[in-house]
Amino acid sequence: MTSAIEYVCDRCDARVRLGQPENLCRVCGGLLEIRYDLGQVPPDLRARAAATRAARMWRWRDLLPVGPAAEPVSLGEGDTPLLAAPGLGERLGLRRLWLKNDTLMPTGSFKDRGFSLAVTVATELGLRRAFTYSSGNAGASLAAYAARAGIDATVLVEYLASPVKVAAIRGYGARVVSLRFGSSAEIFSALEAIEGKAPYSFVNFINPVRHEAMKTYAYEICEALDWRAPDVMLHPVGTGGGLYGAWKGFRELRELGWIDRLPRMIGVQPAACAPIVAAVERGDTIARPAGDPAATIAQSIAADAPIQQGERVLRAIRESGGTAVAVSDSQLTEAMRLLGREGILAEPSAAAPLAGLIECLRTAAVSPASEAVCVITGSGLKQPADLAQPGDPVTEVSAGDPGEILRVLDEGGTS
Ligand SMILES: Cc1ncc(COP(=O)(O)O)c(C=O)c1O
Ligand SMILES: [Zn+2]
Repeated sequence: MTSAIEYVCDRCDARVRLGQPENLCRVCGGLLEIRYDLGQVPPDLRARAAATRAARMWRWRDLLPVGPAAEPVSLGEGDTPLLAAPGLGERLGLRRLWLKNDTLMPTGSFKDRGFSLAVTVATELGLRRAFTYSSGNAGASLAAYAARAGIDATVLVEYLASPVKVAAIRGYGARVVSLRFGSSAEIFSALEAIEGKAPYSFVNFINPVRHEAMKTYAYEICEALDWRAPDVMLHPVGTGGGLYGAWKGFRELRELGWIDRLPRMIGVQPAACAPIVAAVERGDTIARPAGDPAATIAQSIAADAPIQQGERVLRAIRESGGTAVAVSDSQLTEAMRLLGREGILAEPSAAAPLAGLIECLRTAAVSPASEAVCVITGSGLKQPADLAQPGDPVTEVSAGDPGEILRVLDEGGTS
């Protein structure tokens, strides 16, 4: 039971009871604050929280590659909400839809799972210098966790990255090096060429630790579903670390006997740059370079040639009986709009699972009788240029004309 008691006005100390919609204080227009009776907080709350939720992702450390003495480098990652979206699910004609909202991670993307773990392990190993290649989000995440651990970090960030992502990396104190390239193949062969000669690499799959943390998706989702896997899980695919790690987690849970069946894993890529989709369509075990990384708004997953020819992610898709699907930029924009109406601002790449689900329902690659989880991997706030909906006019009013403001408000707002 909550220990919250009432609203209190900052300015005039008016008290208003809870359980009714309030905005500003009706007496003086001041700001309301909620007051608590902390005497009502159960005495064992701290012990309970510490034993479970407080550790968030680190509740699963027995299933992660860290020694018993390791001190997690943590910013509060994991245990993001698995939001039911019954209205949206119904509109799509799907039995059950869940949105795993990883936009709420400390640096705004799912990459924090991997970097919390990988930086912890690096710290355990006594490493002091490291780098990663990044389309933007991974760089911000490395920068934040390296700052926390006191590791010197450099990020080779794609020249196409949103300026906000670059600013975030700098804001967390890492060095930014802007990486020009013609194709992802060029990037990955350079990364493989410098491996072992450069500081410690946190690049997905070159680093063996990062994707391990993505197993925690599976633990969190199955726990939230009362130890049951969904029928399908959809994830955006760049390198494939997210999808592959999650698949590993589901398999572990089945081995442990905690779940009795596995989900189908569905990878989603932008149509302009979809080598994994092309490989799945060919029935191939490796991906060939395909597409143009600069030709889509889904910049975070615009990889025309995944590392190691995408073998791992293709294996996960195949073993799970899943598939990979390509979506256009306009499908991504529509999925962003739908997510916005669910209260989630996603960047285009993070809206890909929902766009992919809609496409799979259209082609019957996913049955309407399914229970699906879409992972929303990164916040739209870091790619603001693509949040604006061109064509949506913004009404202007003047603060000097309250009558006009009233007229506009009378028209209502939801679009
Ligand atoms: C928001 C977002 N979603 C998905 C991905 C793809 O992740 P992965 O490279 O693990 O396939 C990325 C990678 O940068 C990302 O930033
Ligand atoms: Zn007041």
